Amino acid sequence: VKLAIVGCGYVADFYLRTLAFHPELELVAVCDRDPARAKTVADRYGARCYDDLDALLGDRDVQLVVNLTNPSSHYEVSRTCLDAGRHVYSEKPLAMTLPEARELMTLAERRGLILGTAPCNVLGESAQTVLQQLRAGTLGTVRAVHAEMDDGAVYLKDYWLWRNSLGVPWPFRDEFDVGCVMEHAAYYLTWLVAFWGPVASITAFSECLVPSKSASRSSDYAVGVLRFANGVVARLTCSIIAPENRGLLVIGEDGQLSVSDCWQYDSEVRVRGAMTMPRLRRWIEDHRGELGGSEQELASALSMLEPRTATDDLGAKLALRRVMKRVAEAETELTSDRAIPLVRPAIATGLDNNMDFSRGVAECADAALHRRQCRLSGEFALHVLECTLALRDGGTTALETSCGAFEPMPWAR
Ligand SMILES: NC(=O)c1ccc[n+]([C@@H]2O[C@H](COP(=O)([O-])OP(=O)(O)OC[C@H]3O[C@@H](n4cnc5c(N)ncnc54)[C@H](O)[C@@H]3O)[C@@H](O)[C@H]2O)c1
Repeated sequence: VKLAIVGCGYVADFYLRTLAFHPELELVAVCDRDPARAKTVADRYGARCYDDLDALLGDRDVQLVVNLTNPSSHYEVSRTCLDAGRHVYSEKPLAMTLPEARELMTLAERRGLILGTAPCNVLGESAQTVLQQLRAGTLGTVRAVHAEMDDGAVYLKDYWLWRNSLGVPWPFRDEFDVGCVMEHAAYYLTWLVAFWGPVASITAFSECLVPSKSASRSSDYAVGVLRFANGVVARLTCSIIAPENRGLLVIGEDGQLSVSDCWQYDSEVRVRGAMTMPRLRRWIEDHRGELGGSEQELASALSMLEPRTATDDLGAKLALRRVMKRVAEAETELTSDRAIPLVRPAIATGLDNNMDFSRGVAECADAALHRRQCRLSGEFALHVLECTLALRDGGTTALETSCGAFEPMPWAR
């Protein structure tokens, strides 16, 4: 599939450096309203160079446009590309407002085009391993989730000196104006929605705690509680205030699953079993033959592990004590803490955050080629955007949008 990149700024470097992992993607053209930036990329990657979008869209070779412009340009650029009959993969957010995002989704659907949106870390090996564990029921019923998207106190660092490998500075003004919720919440919202489906409501606190860093006073500290339609509840934090932490904790009745960093495709996934009475009862029943003692003693002991059947009977209490002595090893087995092998080894991208940015582009290109539903579809991105806006704006929001079930990657089924 022949691609064009619009927006040759800071993030473009991460796409360009991961394109090589997808030989089916061919970069043919680039464009930036800053001609020098477009020329640097065009020269280094052997692509045609355009100073404006209309000229780029006149290039009949271009099948899919990767929109890496600033968030305020996303809507305009994506709409123009869809109008011109091109598939689009856009950096997040899909648009700055819900009506604009909805318009893009409708336009893409009407024209039979793919509209995909970053982030694509949900297609990474760690996320896909979590999805597989959840589908296998490893944790039993999931009750709560804690997800942290804290990027550290960026505003106290030497951010004005940061450059990518093309020499482009980190666009700190834009980052602080857009705010960390619009910039980062989707890295976890996409995971949560892929794992548990659509969110029904969000209650959030969101504020700018350090107004001095930007005139816009965009929120730099947000905490939201998401209630999913399926009953799961998730707490999501998103800040550039709290120390760097991009961890996930999933709390199930049979155990807990943790991921240390959603910005690393090779982040370790760990599962720790929970010592609960239902699990202990199941363990005893499964190991009946090896435990010795009479059937009646076991039945008595089991009855004491169930609130409906437990009694004050001394015989039953003694039976439980005797059986428990023999099942001491069950606790070690039930509460084992282990790293789950990733569904497949993750590639090393060489980027500080080991994310294959081009994987989302490849997903869209493949969906366009095979005329199938894209995992990062407009419907999915629209729902993620509505969640992002609800988190950014604070208060309680009943969500209007929804989305269908998320398909695991073929290598993670
Ligand atoms: N900076 C990061 O570390 C990072 C990481 C992941 C994702 N992102 C996302 O990537 C996107 C771009 O961020 P960035 O950091 O590269 O910003 P940037 O300011 O460095 O680059 C954006 C580029 O787009 C160009 N541009 C803007 N509007 C345009 C238009 N209408 N036509 C042509 N060119 C236009 C600008 O001239 C600029 O060169 C944002 O959505 C951001 O959220 C950024």
